[in-house]
Amino acid sequence: MSTPLSANQVRQLFLEYFVKQGHVVVPSALLVPENDPTTLFTSSGMQPMIPYLLGETHPLGSRICNSQKCFRAQDIEEVGDNRHTTFFEMLGNWSFGDYFKEEQLAWIFDFLVNWIGLRPDRLFVTVFAGDKTHNLPADQEAVVLWQKLFASQGIKAEVFTWDQIANQPAGNNSFPARIMLYSAEKNWWSRSGTPNQMPVGEPGGPDSEIFYDFGAECRLHEKSVFANQPCHLNCDCGRYLEIGNSVFMHLQRTVDNFVDLPKRNIDFGGGLERILAATFHQPDVFQTELFLPILHQLESLTQTTYKQYPRPYRIIADHIKASVMLIADGVLPDRKDQGYLVRRLLRRAMRQARSFSGAENLLPKLVDSVVKIYHQPYPELSSVQTKIEEVIAQESMKFERTLNAGLREFNKLVTRQQVLTGELAYHLYETYGFPLEILLDEARANQVPLADNLDDLFSQTKQLHLKQSQAGLDQKFKGGLADHSARTTAYHTATHLIHQALRRVLGEHVAQKGSNITPERLRFDFSHPQPLTTQQLAQVEQQVNDWIEQSLPVTKITLEKAEALKSGALAFFAERYPNQVDVYVIRRPSDQQLSIANLANNPDIISMEVCGGPHVTNTKEIGKLSLFKEKSVSAGVRRVYAKVV
Ligand code: ALA
Repeated sequence: MSTPLSANQVRQLFLEYFVKQGHVVVPSALLVPENDPTTLFTSSGMQPMIPYLLGETHPLGSRICNSQKCFRAQDIEEVGDNRHTTFFEMLGNWSFGDYFKEEQLAWIFDFLVNWIGLRPDRLFVTVFAGDKTHNLPADQEAVVLWQKLFASQGIKAEVFTWDQIANQPAGNNSFPARIMLYSAEKNWWSRSGTPNQMPVGEPGGPDSEIFYDFGAECRLHEKSVFANQPCHLNCDCGRYLEIGNSVFMHLQRTVDNFVDLPKRNIDFGGGLERILAATFHQPDVFQTELFLPILHQLESLTQTTYKQYPRPYRIIADHIKASVMLIADGVLPDRKDQGYLVRRLLRRAMRQARSFSGAENLLPKLVDSVVKIYHQPYPELSSVQTKIEEVIAQESMKFERTLNAGLREFNKLVTRQQVLTGELAYHLYETYGFPLEILLDEARANQVPLADNLDDLFSQTKQLHLKQSQAGLDQKFKGGLADHSARTTAYHTATHLIHQALRRVLGEHVAQKGSNITPERLRFDFSHPQPLTTQQLAQVEQQVNDWIEQSLPVTKITLEKAEALKSGALAFFAERYPNQVDVYVIRRPSDQQLSIANLANNPDIISMEVCGGPHVTNTKEIGKLSLFKEKSVSAGVRRVYAKVV
């Protein structure tokens, strides 16, 4: 394919292709589902099709296709990389008890290769590996179908499992698997997640995803946090971009397992933005015509460039687009439900804009570029453009006022040179709606020292207030305040040990992403691309308990921030700390006095972290710990829970 395709052409070609295969085109449903109280937004093309997937007859027949507007609120925090967006269009085709796997895989492959010109050697696919708990077999049929399709292009398709890939050298350049088998975490689709997570009655099934490879030369893997691991199709580095998913939806959850749905269905969904990026061999979806006009407008309004501030630019571009689309579908900024999400998007976009530009009232001025991008598929946007601009301008003003009132209060604090405490942060939040993130930015800019564990204290205070306002005096802290604080102190120290043990067992890519402590348990979030095995969890727990048993002393040493970082102390919120920092060191008993001279590469040191404390003075005080739960928080981030037993 020599002339590059426009977004409108890709959308049009997809629909034409499936019309040729006997499908009827239906228009996009609204972003707010009409008859589905289970969810706030239409987040995939399949949602409006649920009744037909469950067996109802579609008035237009058993073959349907469309381009559905989608909004994924759960992806807000992911926006900022090369490919995540909250708003996107999903190209979809459905079979309601009509054709199944063989036609689906052949058609979508034909479309991608022969209609929009993607090179077949850049396409890779994943297939369901089976699920023993629910007696669900591996999808051997899909494997064979894919092998035939690749063979028709002269490509021999090797099949690998994750375990085989895990042993490949880190950052491999020649990926051995054309077809990868993954568990239900990755290759299963239902509205509510894996087989285990599905409520009774929910339809779902195994799926097969198609990825486009931008090649090792895109260097996304080596620049990512996964650099010291082998890259694979579901690696989150961005080199392999998921561009489509064929769901073989033929099962329904029962109390203890699955039954067949009345009919076998196909639900295919592919992100238009991503497919377009693949046709340009452009790994950054923001550098396609579906985003560039917003970026250019932002460049000219702020006199800065996308290249200087890619992350904030992406967040602003995504959030303004999603806000425009949501407002156009009738969602106004509000304190709750869908409206709260619009408010959050706009406030987050404003905050990002403030991080690099002093330009005022930016957001309403970006609406025009969004309307122009979607002029052809959504002509109705033009007629409500002025209204959307007004809504956004008003919301921006309201937020400015909130910020200014909060800032005045904050400035009093600066004048008094107080420390920003969790309680105070909560007060500013509660009284003026002043968000914690902005407060932290302001504190940093004004060199106001932050209280230790400000995040934790903020959420604890918030929770405490919530509980108090709901149930009067809080009776829930069983052992009273003294016990409460001793326990949380022990959990703080335990957090450092868990962090270190995870790094030893899983690798040095493990970095803290968050933590939260209550008197009952600790919670720790960290970067890691896949679930921990039972064995890994046991190893981490064993390591932590060994250290606790060894009665290791915990020592505080105060250093210049730069010195602390140079000596190898871990500091995951480094930019938030003041110039002088406390470093908590946990080490094997030794007579040696700790100093800056003997911190780096000291073999006796188990853990060394910049932290405000408080901590116990000896690990023995923690007591035996149990890691009782592990789960995913978002792509590439895991969460463990631990408690004293
Ligand atoms: N419903 C499937 C998805 O969203 C196609 O991935």
